[in-house]
Amino acid sequence: MFKIFLYTFFLLTTTIYTSELPDEDWFRKHLYDRQEYLCYLEADKEWFACDLNNKDSLKKIFKRLLKSHNSIIIPVFPTVYSPGSNLTSDKPYFDTILNRAEIKENDKVLVVGSGTGADVWAAWLKSKTKVYALDINPIAVANTLATARIAKFPVNVIEADITKNELPSDFSDFDFVLWNMPVLNDPENHFNLSVPAEVFHDGDDGTILNQFLKRLPSLLKKKGKAIIWNTKKAADLVYYNKEIIPHGKFAICIIQMTN
Ligand SMILES: C[S@@+](CC[C@H](N)C(=O)[O-])C[C@H]1O[C@@H](n2cnc3c(N)ncnc32)[C@H](O)[C@@H]1O
Repeated sequence: MFKIFLYTFFLLTTTIYTSELPDEDWFRKHLYDRQEYLCYLEADKEWFACDLNNKDSLKKIFKRLLKSHNSIIIPVFPTVYSPGSNLTSDKPYFDTILNRAEIKENDKVLVVGSGTGADVWAAWLKSKTKVYALDINPIAVANTLATARIAKFPVNVIEADITKNELPSDFSDFDFVLWNMPVLNDPENHFNLSVPAEVFHDGDDGTILNQFLKRLPSLLKKKGKAIIWNTKKAADLVYYNKEIIPHGKFAICIIQMTN
C-alpha cells in the first residue's frame, strides 16, 4: 500500500513539475529575444552577410545556408558592430580579404577591432592558422571568442586600445594587418557620424586613424601589408606606400611597408 502511495506521489509530482516547464518553442522564442541578434556570414566566392532579426530573414537564409560551402551563423553581442547590418555594407572589405589581398596559408594576420570576429573568420579561411585579434570593447573580445568556438578556428584575441596600449610581444611581425575602421568624420562631405560617446565602432575625429598609422610599422614585417576600410578621405590621408580602391565615399586602402 505504501509503495502504491509513493508511486502515485512520484507520478503526480513529476507531472506537475514537467507541465510547468515551458515547451521548446517558448525557449526558442525567449532565447532569441535575449540575443541582440544573430548574423549569417557566407564566404564562398564572394562575401555575403545578413542580420537574422526576423522570421523572414531566417527562412531566406536557411535556404542559402543549405547551398553554401562556407557559411556560419554567429551571435552579435550587445554593443558590438554587426557585419550584416543592411545600412552599412562592408562587402568590399571582406571581398578584399577573401580574394584581392593574397593572404596565403600560414601568413601571420592581425585583425584590429575584430567586433563579432567576422573578419577574423574570413582571414582564417585564407591563412588556415591562428589569427591574432584585438578590440577596445571587452564584449567584442568575448564575441570574437564565441565566433571562433562556433567556426572552430584558433584565435589569440585581447582587449586593447590600438591607439594607446602596449601590446604583447608576439603582436608583431605580421604579414597582414586588417581593420574595418571607425569611420573618419568628414563634415565637408556632410559625413559626420554623431554617435554616442559609448559607441566604440564608429566616428573618428582623426585621432584613431593617426595613432594607428603611427603604430603600423611596429606591427608589420618588411613588405607586410595593411588593409583598411574607411572613407575615401581617410585613405587619402595615409602617408605610406598605398593603393586606393574607391567605393563611393568609402575606399579600401592597401598599405605596403617598404622598410
Ligand atoms: C566598424 S567595427 C568593425 C568590426 C568587425 N571587424 C567587422 O568588420 O564586422 C570597428 C571595430 O573597431 C573597434 N575599435 C574602435 N576603436 C578602437 C581602438 N582604439 N582600438 C581597438 N579597437 C577599436 C570597435 O570596438 C569595433 O569593434
